[in-house]
Amino acid sequence: MELTCLLIKPDGVAEAHIGHIITRIEKEGFTIRGLRLIRLTRSQAEAFYAIHRGRAFFEDLITYMMGGPIVAMALERDDAVEQLRRVIGATDPTEAEEGTLRARFGKDIGVNTVHGSDSVENGIRETLFFFPVSPSQGG
Ligand code: RTP
Ligand code: MG
Repeated sequence: MELTCLLIKPDGVAEAHIGHIITRIEKEGFTIRGLRLIRLTRSQAEAFYAIHRGRAFFEDLITYMMGGPIVAMALERDDAVEQLRRVIGATDPTEAEEGTLRARFGKDIGVNTVHGSDSVENGIRETLFFFPVSPSQGG
């Protein structure tokens, strides 16, 4: 079993897609080990996306992620990281496969509704970021 971190970004929460996304995640065989609604501070958003510091889109990304509450989830299943990326689709919603969450709800390459960890290592790091005690205890 593997852990990965799913975020429903501010647009997904504001447009009332939480229920749809959770239903889809459950149908795809993920077990929810942690779940919380949180509004990120600037320092939290910058820490979460620290890997992108210095990129041209960094400031837009941080402003977007601070723009409203998000939902963070710790998800578990076999091959969780790759399987969640499959369900989410490509970063740019216009390139995301039909049936993926970003194809359905994403606006553009910046405002794309959901985040999924991109490696097993980051799945653990990001899960701990939101659920520092233990994902199975709900953070
Ligand atoms: P994420 O980390 O949110 O799951 O997205 P990702 O792996 O598919 O894409 P990544 O390269 O990690 O980019 C992180 C987020 O930054 C915003 N972005 N904007 N304007 C742009 O060119 C651009 N590129 C990336 C998106 O919100 C992207 O999900
Ligand atoms: Mg990424």
